[in-house]
Amino acid sequence: MHKIDIELIEMTLDVMKYVIGRVSETEHQIGKPKKAEELKAIVGETITAKGVGGEYAFNLWKEHLSKANVPVDHPRNLAFVPASPTRAAIMFDLITSASSIHGAYWMEGAGGIFCENEAMRWIVSLTGLPKGAFGVFTSGGTAANLSAIVTAREYWRENPEYKRKKGLIITSTGAHSSVKAMAKVADVDILLVESEERLEGKDLQKTIDSLTEHQRKCLFAVVATGGTTNAGIIDDLDGVANICEKENLWFHVDAAYGGGALAADSVRHLFIGIEKADSITIDPHKWMFSPYDCGAVIYKNPELAKKAHSQQGSYLDIFKDEGAHGFNPSDYQIQLTRRVRGLPLWFSLATHGTDRFKEAIERGLELAQIAGKMIEAHPDLELVRAPSLSCVLFRRLGWENKDYTEWTYENHRKGFALVTPTKWNNGERFEAVSRFCFINPDTTENDIRLILDTMI
Ligand SMILES: Cc1ncc(COP(=O)(O)O)c(C=O)c1O
Repeated sequence: MHKIDIELIEMTLDVMKYVIGRVSETEHQIGKPKKAEELKAIVGETITAKGVGGEYAFNLWKEHLSKANVPVDHPRNLAFVPASPTRAAIMFDLITSASSIHGAYWMEGAGGIFCENEAMRWIVSLTGLPKGAFGVFTSGGTAANLSAIVTAREYWRENPEYKRKKGLIITSTGAHSSVKAMAKVADVDILLVESEERLEGKDLQKTIDSLTEHQRKCLFAVVATGGTTNAGIIDDLDGVANICEKENLWFHVDAAYGGGALAADSVRHLFIGIEKADSITIDPHKWMFSPYDCGAVIYKNPELAKKAHSQQGSYLDIFKDEGAHGFNPSDYQIQLTRRVRGLPLWFSLATHGTDRFKEAIERGLELAQIAGKMIEAHPDLELVRAPSLSCVLFRRLGWENKDYTEWTYENHRKGFALVTPTKWNNGERFEAVSRFCFINPDTTENDIRLILDTMI
């Protein structure tokens, strides 16, 4: 398995040929999911005592299994938060794997971690956080949110009065599900300010004022969102920051999706206040065109994260020794062994320069505005709210829940587009609506028009 022979050479060439084909293709197919039983019936047993052989397995992948995936970078994949890794980043993802780098400690991964840190410096510069702020790449926004919440909780528990107390955090109903899920993992209570619209400082203050004395004591952090996943809404970050400062609370900003827009001059002002955060989540695998998986957590004071996350163990002592001195990413988030997942981003940034990133992000914002205008001009369509960041929510007049679902399946079945419905609270009830989220700068106005035409 580990020796070099002609089969390995042939396999390497086949894989490279496939990769070249994939990255140079301009029209991908939108794949069709199949049930696990159907896939099993097609490919049969693949894990056997003697192996089925690389060529055979690779053919199964090419012919059948790869086609059961929906590429996130298809220009008409506007569902959830899609992605669009640059070709340079994809290429360096291959290099990252081929280089077998352990990204936990500088002692083993200095070259890779150096590159990650160069890319991180650019991301941190976008936030406006003060000198000393820094971050690390994580497996995604969920892990970044968890790392930040745990850091905040451990900092709060430094006070002996709270050592054994269960903490409380406040966020809004618009916050991402991972914030609520990670509060569970960190075993902290969570209070939701009822608003899918922008969380305003005054509403946060009202919520804090309404807490019982016990709850107020246990409250240690507020999570605001820098671009809600559902609608692209940016909370009143400055207002929230000021209240957190006054009330002595940790201020976390979840900008997993919206964080890329910090690079876009046209909307940067909407994020004012983010520079006062104690921690920030940004996902380069969303709007910074990195391949999965690549999130980031940034701290105003990284030393607090180190206190919370640094792992101790006799076999790890050497990594902390003077002789092995350097930046150890594992000290600042929940994971020990880690891929240098910021390396593809570094190569992509180094190749193209930050201006090209700005332009590509601005294009996503522009596409949302273009889609908004097309919808407004259409007699059968209606905007639910003005486009925000790169999200557009809209109604097809006369449609009910099932119509949106059937329309999604129909376009997916045809291999034409993936646009999924969401729910929006219209003041009376949660209604089903349609949603675009633009990331891919290769999506065209014609793609949008063609998708809207299928609603008529
Ligand atoms: C605002 C926000 N936070 C957190 C997450 C979770 O990120 P991940 O899926 O990378 O774990 C997402 C994902 O869409 C998100 O949009």
